[in-house]
Amino acid sequence: MRERVESMKPSVSHSLVSLYTAVLSLCKKMPVPTVKRQRLYAIILMVCQGGITFTGSLVRVTGSGLGCDTWPQCHPGTFIPESGSAPWIHQVIEFGNRTLTFVLIIAAAFAFIAVLRAARRNTILHIAFLQGIGIIVQAVLGGITVHLDLAWWIVMAHFLPSMLLVYFAAFMVIKITEDDDAPRRATMPVALRWATWGSAVTLALVLITGTMTTSAGPHAGDEAILPEHRLQIELIEIANLHAHIMYLYMGITIGLLAGLFAVRVDRRIRNVALWLILGIVLQGVVGVLQYNLGVPRWTVPLHVIGSAIVTAMTGLLWAMRFRRGVDSADRDFDTADQEFAAELAAEKTS
Ligand code: HEM
Repeated sequence: MRERVESMKPSVSHSLVSLYTAVLSLCKKMPVPTVKRQRLYAIILMVCQGGITFTGSLVRVTGSGLGCDTWPQCHPGTFIPESGSAPWIHQVIEFGNRTLTFVLIIAAAFAFIAVLRAARRNTILHIAFLQGIGIIVQAVLGGITVHLDLAWWIVMAHFLPSMLLVYFAAFMVIKITEDDDAPRRATMPVALRWATWGSAVTLALVLITGTMTTSAGPHAGDEAILPEHRLQIELIEIANLHAHIMYLYMGITIGLLAGLFAVRVDRRIRNVALWLILGIVLQGVVGVLQYNLGVPRWTVPLHVIGSAIVTAMTGLLWAMRFRRGVDSADRDFDTADQEFAAELAAEKTS
């Protein structure tokens, strides 16, 4: 037996090396993708990263998590659902969600190969590569989630990295359009750049407390999960904390928007901020509704896709605080800040 395994080793490594060489030579033959094409791949990747959180929430809210009761196989001994092993609708939803992982992998591969082929700057290459790694980590975390029978803390740990992936896919969408060799310029004053950080950090807290609210809430993902195995916090308390942090997130982002208008930054940045505020308001309305209606099932996927959308927009806005080689609509606020400081100093001495 051992001899057989030993004799298989070189052939497996040989196949992997051949596959790698084949992919590499295929890449080299590809035409160099235009910036527009690279941006399109990044947008598709961002949409897929957000979309899989939506299908994931469908899994949870319909209690289909154990439609496939093992991982990477669906049931012991088979990769596809076996009739009768679980309700068929649960099998369709859970198996469909797992299949989407492959769509996501293809989207990430396209985005990575495109920026590699176009020899983009390191920041873009690293983020595109990490998107692929993130998907693999998420697939493994998804498997662990099933093995741990959907324990609330692992469901949290599985959801939050997806938001990070959405955020950085959005960052890539912006950075891809810049000229790699041009110097980096600040597109807004330093105080507003701090506000983009404030918006991002408070969003992270909203997302964390949101997943905690879910962990204490009624939708565990499977009927067999007992209330004593859920997060032991009163739903009202954690939902209130979640909503209050959201008000802080909204307040900081409204302040940021007002500042962006006051100093008249590039119209595209102001537009993203406006859409973000609209997204936060709608998401807040869905949140309040779902809380007051006792968390009906249909509200959960809506709230999850809303989270992915505001996360993407917060990422877009954060990415826009600095840009490289953009058109004259962007003023260089670092120079403006320095000129303003110099004027103040001159006034003081005179
Ligand atoms: C920008 C605004 C908001 C964002 C980004 C957000 C985000 C989230 C996230 C990520 C979750 C966890 C989803 C999951 O694990 O499936 C969640 C759950 C929840 N949120 Fe929000 N939320 C927002 C506003 C609100 C507001 C204002 C309320 C009102 C109280 C609220 C009430 C809830 C409730 C009740 C849950 C638990 C739902 C469940 O049991 O599945 N959310 N939220």
